[in-house]
Amino acid sequence: MEQRALFIIFGGTGDLAYRKLYPALFSLYEKGYLKEHFAVIGTARRPWTDDHYHEVVVNSIDDAGHDVSRTNTEMARKFASHFYYQSHNVDDANHYVALKDLANKLDDQYELNGNRIFYMAMAPQFFGTIAGHLKDQNLLTDNGGFNRLIIEKPFGRDFETAKELNDSISKAFNEEQIFRIDHYLGKDPIQSIASLRFSNPIINALWNKEHVDNIQVTLAESLGVEERAGYYETAGAMRDMVQNHVLQVVSLLTMNRPEIYDAKHLREKKVEALNNIQQYTEEEAKQNFVRGQYGADEIGSQLPYRDEEGTADDSEIETYVAGKLVTHNSGLAGVPIYIRTGKRLAKKSTQVNIIFKGLDKNIFSELTGKKEIPTNVLTIHIEPDQGYTIEMSSKSGNQGYDIQPHYLRFRMTSEEKAKVPDAYEKLIHDALKGDKTNFAHWDEVSRAWKLMDVVRKTWDNTVPEFPNYVSGSMGPKAADDLLERDGRKWEFNP
Ligand code: BG6
Repeated sequence: MEQRALFIIFGGTGDLAYRKLYPALFSLYEKGYLKEHFAVIGTARRPWTDDHYHEVVVNSIDDAGHDVSRTNTEMARKFASHFYYQSHNVDDANHYVALKDLANKLDDQYELNGNRIFYMAMAPQFFGTIAGHLKDQNLLTDNGGFNRLIIEKPFGRDFETAKELNDSISKAFNEEQIFRIDHYLGKDPIQSIASLRFSNPIINALWNKEHVDNIQVTLAESLGVEERAGYYETAGAMRDMVQNHVLQVVSLLTMNRPEIYDAKHLREKKVEALNNIQQYTEEEAKQNFVRGQYGADEIGSQLPYRDEEGTADDSEIETYVAGKLVTHNSGLAGVPIYIRTGKRLAKKSTQVNIIFKGLDKNIFSELTGKKEIPTNVLTIHIEPDQGYTIEMSSKSGNQGYDIQPHYLRFRMTSEEKAKVPDAYEKLIHDALKGDKTNFAHWDEVSRAWKLMDVVRKTWDNTVPEFPNYVSGSMGPKAADDLLERDGRKWEFNP
């Protein structure tokens, strides 16, 4: 159960390390997946001492909600004593020599068997340089231990830059050694999509073009751009959310059944699913995608995006995307998939809705005077609720045959949710085990860029009329029109 490894974290003083990585490593320590035989080297430019680093690590796990004030204090301190800080200039070859010496020393001291995880928790423009130096200055071990590289998005800005980035890290690491984090793949309810589809005969039997009318994926956020305008102004919702998280979810929803559930078979089916999403022409992209940018809210208490700290007054960056995708994957061929994501929407809610086809005849219409044919909707609640709702129709309790929607609901309790490991804890644990099931393969990333590049291209050629949605709403009207055009509407299960 205990895993032995040395973690070398580039960006050790950064926000990601503080908010996510140190608390996740601590959770693994609490559970015994990390024990005596692990060490962490944090590197960054700042000249920190080891003592200061230990303080930071303890504070980070405290801030993340772990109880370090009483019984856990000793444990947290013991955990932090495995952390070493080295000030580092990513361009300086000599610094890698010093890093190697420290790594080798820790390898002996903690008996790590040469297992190394290099974690790039920093801006991607440095990934290639770092990877090159890791190889040239011999930081990769060759004594039977593993060398794994974990990288964070953004993996490029489009297919071309993603490929350059991938080529640059591939000089030092092969695909099997590269773990691309998409934190949505570490979320338990997203991992549950496959189990819902492939371990329930009633769901499995209906998950096909004969029965599914359309699929909707909503990744709604209530927060705005916060302190990340510098990054967001160069990215926008398409690059930030759609190319990665949304398309990963779509691949899990539309893939055919893998032979067995492991990294290799899952990847094959996900890549096939993404390849079978229709590649739009520019004209089709224009027809099927909508972008938006938030303005103020109705009472003027929220700033418009363009007035946020660090954004341009005439910014054309989208904070909202909605789109229609069509899959040609055999089981669901022709079924439309509507996706949307945005900041400053009415509510933080990540959910998937499967809208089933109605029956061809409503035998109750004479009795009720209503012609419509009820449909069933399955909602997969991902966040903040976790669980499922099935909307079913049946007679109300009154006289007559008034057909009403009824809801079968399952929601995890907050106690149950609190026990679910955080996405980073799950993913780092997977990386320690060498399990790539929940990481994005290059074939997925590259295909996703190709699907989205054409949309981006049409947008880059036209000036948007921004802002076009009110903060606190569910996005621009054009997103509703996108579905109305097909005689449909967005489902949203609060
Ligand atoms: C990140 C994006 O990948 O996902 C952020 O960069 C976004 O802009 C975040 O807010 C949303 O993640 P979650 O887990 O809060 O849904």
